[in-house]
Amino acid sequence: MTAPISGGKSDHWGSRFGFIMAAVGSSVGLGNLWRFPYTAGENGGSAFILVYILAILLFGLPVLMAEYAVGRHGQRSSIATIRKITTEEKKPGAWVIMGWIGAFASLLLFSFYIVISAWVFDFIPQAFTGKFVGFDAVASNANFETTIGNRLEIWLYTAAFLALNVLVVARGVRGGIERASEILMPAFFIMLLGMVGFGLFTGDAAATAKFLFQPDFSKINFQVVLAALGQAFFSLSVGSCVMMTYGAYLTRKTNIPANAGLVASTDTFVALIAGFAIFPIVFGFGLNQAAGPGLFFVTMPVVFGQLPAFVGGIFFTLALFAAFTSAVSLFEVGVSWLEDQRGIGRVKGAIGLGVVLLLIATAYVFDGALIDTASFISGDLLLPLGGVLIGIFAGWVVPKRIMAAELGEGLLLEVVLFLLRFVIPIGISGILIVGVYSKFGA
Ligand code: PHE
Repeated sequence: MTAPISGGKSDHWGSRFGFIMAAVGSSVGLGNLWRFPYTAGENGGSAFILVYILAILLFGLPVLMAEYAVGRHGQRSSIATIRKITTEEKKPGAWVIMGWIGAFASLLLFSFYIVISAWVFDFIPQAFTGKFVGFDAVASNANFETTIGNRLEIWLYTAAFLALNVLVVARGVRGGIERASEILMPAFFIMLLGMVGFGLFTGDAAATAKFLFQPDFSKINFQVVLAALGQAFFSLSVGSCVMMTYGAYLTRKTNIPANAGLVASTDTFVALIAGFAIFPIVFGFGLNQAAGPGLFFVTMPVVFGQLPAFVGGIFFTLALFAAFTSAVSLFEVGVSWLEDQRGIGRVKGAIGLGVVLLLIATAYVFDGALIDTASFISGDLLLPLGGVLIGIFAGWVVPKRIMAAELGEGLLLEVVLFLLRFVIPIGISGILIVGVYSKFGA
């Protein structure tokens, strides 16, 4: 282990494995299991998936590298890092607004993320007690509606999930987030592979393969591209300075491009796997692929109803684990900032912020439609906007020597800088403008 770089954060990831698990843990979450399948389903399936993969490669991955690079250079919370760089390099101090947008997006994401996590939480006892036995599509749909309609219960699960976040984040990065991720993520992966095997054997694999791998390009329009872009950013956890915050705890030994590549490929792999687990069931049982946010919660119980109860119970537990390691990363942005900038200790900061977020989350418990709106604003608008800003910041404001010191000299650096400087600002702004216009305009 290398000694912490002087100044800034004193806490650092304890090991490469720990960092990878935390970083993969942030990326792999409800975005893969819950948001990816229904977004793909709503946006034409395989054509969407192709655009999605392109968005990951061209936009998501370079922004991920930029966030790690800038974060490690700064060794502070994202806002403090931006301030440090603009001061040292004599650049406009207004760049901190990027940090503000990121922090706002993270907390907005977190506020509804914990409610979806509460749905998952609620499904665990349901699964273990065999409630799904004999479920067809209709019964499963009714069960989902009843579950989320049970407001007090969902609120209590939301509060419990949030309390666990407070507990772990208050313990710090190495002692809390890293330790939790090291246990939860490997457990998650083992179970997921088991689920895929089952889905392929029991569902309509042929229809799924067709849906996933025979792209119908006529379905691609700017709304689909915008949805794919937002999903790519949401799933990778980029655009809101979360990864910049995690980057601050990196030691110099970590190879940023290699780790970013690993995180992005694992994340994409899990999203595709989730598609493979869910779409066979959708087609096999005649469910509606464009069912929206309920898709995950309606399809999975149908399968679990035909299996020993513990299988579904374990699955939802693991989905909760994945959600948890993502939620803590969103929460860390705010707590880290309070710690650096306001001198508020982690414990106090986590509790205070937790209370505020619980109040906000209460609104979604009572009006589920707000979740769609919050998810669109934060995921499809703020994250890509954050991506544009991070691209310009890392490409034009941060001197090349710093980026070279973080990413290494050579062709890769040139390619990443080219994407950050030109492709990302122009490409994403264009998609944002045309996508929003075609969604709401005329
Ligand atoms: N990537 C997480 C998921 O897929 C959600 C997330 C978004 C986490 C943005 C951090 C930042 O569930």
